[in-house]
Amino acid sequence: MKIVHVASELFPFIKTGGLADAVAALTATLATRGHEVTVFLPGYRAVLDHPLVVNATRTHGLRIEMGDMFMSGEVRSFSPAPNLTIHLICREEFFDRRNPYGTPERDYEDNHHRFIFFCKGVVETMRFLEMSADVIHGHDWQCGLLPLLLRHAEQRYGITLAMKTVFTIHNIAFQGVFPMRSFARTNLPDELKGIDGVEFYGQMSMMKAGILFSDRVTTVSPRYAREIQTAEFGCGLDGVILSRAADLVGFINGIDTTVWNPATDPLIPYHYGVGKLAGKAKCRTELLTRAGLDPKFKGPIFGMVCRLTEQKGIDLLLDNGAFFRKNEVALIVLGKGDKQLEASLRELAALVPTHVVLSSRVDESMSHLIEAGSDFFVMPSRFEPCGLNQMYSQVYGTIPLVTQVGGLADTVVDIDANPEAGTGIMFSPSVAGLAGGLARALKLYADKQLYTEIQARGMRSDFGWAKTAQAYEELYRDAL
Ligand code: ADP
Ligand code: GLC
Repeated sequence: MKIVHVASELFPFIKTGGLADAVAALTATLATRGHEVTVFLPGYRAVLDHPLVVNATRTHGLRIEMGDMFMSGEVRSFSPAPNLTIHLICREEFFDRRNPYGTPERDYEDNHHRFIFFCKGVVETMRFLEMSADVIHGHDWQCGLLPLLLRHAEQRYGITLAMKTVFTIHNIAFQGVFPMRSFARTNLPDELKGIDGVEFYGQMSMMKAGILFSDRVTTVSPRYAREIQTAEFGCGLDGVILSRAADLVGFINGIDTTVWNPATDPLIPYHYGVGKLAGKAKCRTELLTRAGLDPKFKGPIFGMVCRLTEQKGIDLLLDNGAFFRKNEVALIVLGKGDKQLEASLRELAALVPTHVVLSSRVDESMSHLIEAGSDFFVMPSRFEPCGLNQMYSQVYGTIPLVTQVGGLADTVVDIDANPEAGTGIMFSPSVAGLAGGLARALKLYADKQLYTEIQARGMRSDFGWAKTAQAYEELYRDAL
């Protein structure tokens, strides 16, 4: 099949979260399975500076209609692997910036213009290159307008650019909602401004457009697909989701086992595998050293790597601060984001500097070392569409502590609920829930035999992308 993916992040070129990992691994797997895969990505500064991209050739210029004006740009293209082509939609004014979506303080004010331009750049490039895809698959709100823009261009020029459109929701909490006056920049017909179109409480919602106007809608775990149909998790779009329930499905993300494998991972100093755990013990010492803690520390290490946001349940962790003050345990957090949460975590670290550490930076290699060197990985998310770290931690022999939500509940089996197949500790997303989970972890750590058994079970799990890529293939075929 000819498959086009459109996304605002792609590992290893640009990443703020799991979206980048998921799109990279899915597209690479589809390409190795013989499909002709094209990925469109904004030409952010970081992407253009990436060693694999610096030699990308400029294929053509862009002249994009944006309301009553035209804006220029250009497309650079390269092919990092067989069957895989990446096109970068470039315009300095929009994408030559430090971060993809905003400064640490706030989102960029022109994000709607940036991503309308991006989606229009995709459509224009397909038209220019006379591409005709079987499927165009867009990810998250940044690509929400794509199905409408495609349809509009197809009608205008009497061509077919794509047979079917698929839209994947990675996180319904980010919806791309902007003042309705920005709708003019889309050049779409005014009738789409209404409640049956992009309107969401008087504003324009790009996520809503993606959900309503794509042929198929997917999300990143079966449980999240059910959750977003409820008021509790739907972030106001549950009604819209319900209206598309027949075309909605949840496929769990996989993990890229060429990047996340403790036997080969170049970002960890020692390698290991099931039954050969000496390397893991050495990674633990290295982690303690790099975190500035006593390398001889014997208690359990709780690791955490995440964006510091409300979603990740940092407040639940903070409200369990006493656990880390009173017990012989270490907590190592790698995370950047909300300044208030960061300050509160810093306060906790200042209270127990010998046992609690916060590194507030983005550090790919430290994230691998935390997976390898910790004993437990903590993810007390209030909601979690899929989550990747709970899978990474299982294959790295680090037992996950997770809330019973979304993809966490789909990829971790609680060891008390299911002693035969359990791989981790699960609890409700509340302060008491996490307190119970932490207490259970302490008990488990004291029972070395059981701990090792659960650890080995996790390390043997198969979270590869093959099954999920196949599920997407079947969905594409079914849609066609
Ligand atoms: P989300 O996409 O909601 O942030 P995921 O669990 O799907 O959550 O993916 C997060 C990804 O980002 C993981 O690969 C994680 O290791 C990585 N990550 C998050 N914060 C950092 C950080 N400060 N440094 C390095 N990697 C990080
Ligand atoms: C989003 C979600 C996360 C998911 C990732 C990749 O960022 O918050 O749960 O794993 O997308 O699909």
